[in-house]
Order: sequence, then structure tokens, then C-alpha cells
Amino acid sequence: MFARKIKENVYWMGSVAWDSRLFDSLIPLPDGTSYNAYLIKGSEKTALLDTVDPPKADELMAQLGNIPRIDYVISQHAEQDHSGTIPKVLEKYPDAKVVSTPKAKGMLTDLLKIPEEAFITVKDGETLSLGDKTLRFVHTPWVHWPETMVTYLAEDRILFSCDFFGSHIATTDLFVTDEGRVYEAAKRYFAEIMMPFRNIIKKNLEKLTSYKIELIAPSHGQIYPRPAFILDAYRDWVNSPPKNMVVLPYVSMHESTKLMVDHLVAALVDKGVRVELFNLAVTDIGKLAMALVDAATIVVGTPTILAGPHPYAAYAAFLANALRPKTKFLSIIGSYGWGGKTVETLAGMIPNLKVEVLDPVLCKGVPTEKVFKALDDLAAAIAKKHVENGFT
Ligand code: FEO
Repeated sequence: MFARKIKENVYWMGSVAWDSRLFDSLIPLPDGTSYNAYLIKGSEKTALLDTVDPPKADELMAQLGNIPRIDYVISQHAEQDHSGTIPKVLEKYPDAKVVSTPKAKGMLTDLLKIPEEAFITVKDGETLSLGDKTLRFVHTPWVHWPETMVTYLAEDRILFSCDFFGSHIATTDLFVTDEGRVYEAAKRYFAEIMMPFRNIIKKNLEKLTSYKIELIAPSHGQIYPRPAFILDAYRDWVNSPPKNMVVLPYVSMHESTKLMVDHLVAALVDKGVRVELFNLAVTDIGKLAMALVDAATIVVGTPTILAGPHPYAAYAAFLANALRPKTKFLSIIGSYGWGGKTVETLAGMIPNLKVEVLDPVLCKGVPTEKVFKALDDLAAAIAKKHVENGFT
């Protein structure tokens, strides 16, 4: 792809990664992704804002082919999908300075061996003049690493946000044209890497309220021509109470746990509780992460295998613990053959979750009427808790 003009002397560069299907060797990318860099030409100086993932370096370097001079390489985030091509850019423009937060300088030195003398570090709120264009750097830590910042181009009212507000979508549309599609991709992205830091993200959102923003240009996905769309979505994900919803990740080996899951789902729905069900043997964990953004309750369904939870259930518990959703209640259901420590093992895997554990329902072998009654009671307890807490 060639460089694309956004505004006068402001260009998109980078790579649209149509074929990428896994991010960080972990996160499914059903719609691919993009690595966005931005070129800003001032009347006196030229800045390149972020770079691209190293496997995409040739595309960025080709786009820079007829750019004679770069004065500044702004590194908003040290993670290599944005910073990894800085060394190649510096090879072409040896006089360019890398502009970053002080913390990012240390990380970029460690990760990419960029020499210390190449850096200019910027304080929170500091500005850098390119002549007729001015960059203001706003430190926004923990979106999603500790060193992150965003950059406000004052004259054009563009906020360059790196991972903040990003989405994994490969498309030729430079600007958001389908907000529904982007909402889902951005929520998935928020859930996977930002949800654990939402209290700090809330403060970062507040920091941005004083800026007049006409465009938000993230480093993954499309540019937002209607910033309120994504700002409002983030405020909802960060601030709103959990919803009247149960997320139910489960795995079943010989159908007994599945019978319990199906019964619990029916009982919950009957009591007016929404359920998002995920068969962990086949599920997309990005969808599971996204559902956790809103869930008031998690119920893990697992058989007992080798005296503990099924490894897929352990994985789901580990993931939920790492993502630290707003969830308030948790329970466990499942079938076992002769015994084990499924509940104790799973409960020990979620120290980060500030949840009340509701009575688990385990049964030996195939569930009986007594077990189904216990599941009805669990559904009733969940519905009652949701009502008491005002979750709607
Ligand atoms: Fe897109 Fe945290 O890197």
C-alpha cells in the first residue's frame, strides 16, 4: 500500500496485515490487523510517528523511499509491533532523534539496543514544534504497558493514540465506515489487553477530555472520524457496572457436564439472566474475553480429570484471572468419576478476581434430579444477586 493522505501534510503509512491470524502468538485475529505509522510534515521538521512490526518493515521503508529527511521518530509505545522497525528507520535517517517517554527510552534500549544518544525524552504535556505543526505528548501509562503515551497534533486536532482505541481489522478503508464492526473489534482488543488496567485507563480518558479532537488515529485499525463513538464506548467498558449476564465457559468429555450446563443455561434464562456460553474445546478466546467485559457472573463448567479441572477450564480460569474483569460472582459446576480437587484448584487460580463464590454444584457421574435441583438453586441465587446489585 502507498502512503495515504489524511490531512494536509499528514499521511498514513504502514502495513495492512490481511493474513495475520494470531497476535502475540496467542490472540486470534479473525479480521487480520494493521500496523499504522504516521508521517507529519511541518514547515521546518518532519516526524514519523511509530513504525511497524519488523516482518512488515520493507513496506514502511518503501513508503519512506522518497522522503529525504526525518527529524523525529516518535515512539509512543515500546512494544515491537510499533517500535521494531525504528532501528531500520534510524539506519536510513541517522540524524533522526527518537522521541519517547523516559520509561520508554529504557525499554527501547533494552529491547532494540537503540543507543541512548539517539533519544529525546518528553515530559507529560511537553510540546515539540515542527514549524507550522505542534505535537503535544500526553503520558497515558498502562495502555497497556507502563511507558505508553499519545500524541496530539494541535493544528489539525488529531489524536494519535497507538494501542489506545485500536482495533484489529485489515481493510482498505482508512476511516471507520462501519461502526458496528469496529465496535466489536475494538471491544475485543480492549478486553484482551486493556481491561486489567481499566482504573488507570479511566484516568487516561479523563486526561483527554480537555482536548478538542476531530480524528483519533490509532496504530491498529481504522481512523475514527467521529471520536465520540470510541470515547463513549471506552467510558462504558471502563465505568459501567457489570450487566445481568453470566459467562459460562465449559468443557465436557462424556456429556455429563454438558447436561448440567444445558440445564443451568435454561434455568438462568428462565429467571431473566442472559448467558454467553463458550465450549472451550472449540471457542475463540477473544470472544470469551469480550464477554467478560460485561459479565456480572462467571460459571465454569468442567469435568474432573486427573483429580483436577480439565486443562481447558484451567486455561479459562487463568485467562479470567489475568484479565481481571468487573465480575462479582463466580461458581463452578461439573461431573466427576471418583473424586478430586477441582473446586479447590480452580478457586486457587483466581486470586485477582474480587468475587463472591456461590456454592458449586458437582456431581458424581451422570446428573440426577437432585443435581438439577441444585442447578436451579444456583440459577436462582445468581438471579437474586444480580437484582440485589442492580445489574440490568
Ligand atoms: Fe500494538 Fe502493545 O502493541
